[in-house]
Amino acid sequence: MEIYKTRQEANQRINDLKKQGKTIGFVPTMGALHEGHLSLIRCSKKDNDITAVSIFVNPTQFNDPRDLERYPRMLDKDIEKLEAEGVDILFAPDEKEMYPEPDTRQFDFGHLDKILEGKHRPGHFNGVAQVVSKLFEIIPATRAYFGKKDYQQYLIIRELVRRYMPDLDIEIIPCPIVREKDGLAMSSRNLLLTPEQRRSAALISQTLFRARELTDLMTVDELKQFVIDTINQSPHLRVEYFEIADAETLLPIESWDETDRKIGLIAVYCGEIRLIDNIEFN
Ligand code: PAF
Repeated sequence: MEIYKTRQEANQRINDLKKQGKTIGFVPTMGALHEGHLSLIRCSKKDNDITAVSIFVNPTQFNDPRDLERYPRMLDKDIEKLEAEGVDILFAPDEKEMYPEPDTRQFDFGHLDKILEGKHRPGHFNGVAQVVSKLFEIIPATRAYFGKKDYQQYLIIRELVRRYMPDLDIEIIPCPIVREKDGLAMSSRNLLLTPEQRRSAALISQTLFRARELTDLMTVDELKQFVIDTINQSPHLRVEYFEIADAETLLPIESWDETDRKIGLIAVYCGEIRLIDNIEFN
């Protein structure tokens, strides 16, 4: 695997490969790689000649400094996993390389960055847009892969390309959520849970799966209350929000017949660790 630490070298290599007619799949990550990331890499390898991965813990998207400080970092282990998957290129810059000076750009995504995660993590999506727009300039891939666990982030990135990078010919590909055996959505933050918290966290996805079976029996409001009450019964879990929305716009719905594509999105504190998940109701 080729490893690049500078923007200039990574960009040069990608452009050379594109000139040779190669298609490039790109999987941006913040490291602490798990099966969820590896599934994105496998999709990319299937669709493209070359797969490039980036690892960069982006400080501008953390609205909580403690979250940034404790975010797991394990570059050597990650490199082993990428090599085992047959990844071609790793871009692993440091903070000075990505932000030689502070990035003051403010992005506007209409209502999309002001609700749900955007409302509860002010500035988070602006930071994501700052780093992803830089990464897409450095690695102008054919396709980029994002997990649907961060469903709102996927919609924001699709909108970022539409609104701010219309000349970039990159396809944004959403990939299914990968779950642990007990249903918990895979996340680098799961590593931070104590064994007891980890066991309790399974209730989040289990409640979402149960909710999917109850849509014929309950109104939207009743189902929302059911999910919140069930999860809050655990002494380790505290729901921050649960919303049922149109899967295209993320605007909340009040009745099931408002749209064909519906999604339930949740954020839950498990001790101090904030976990998100979602479920599509179709
Ligand atoms: O989803 C992530 O891991 C991050 O938000 C991303 C897209 C790599 C940007 O830092």
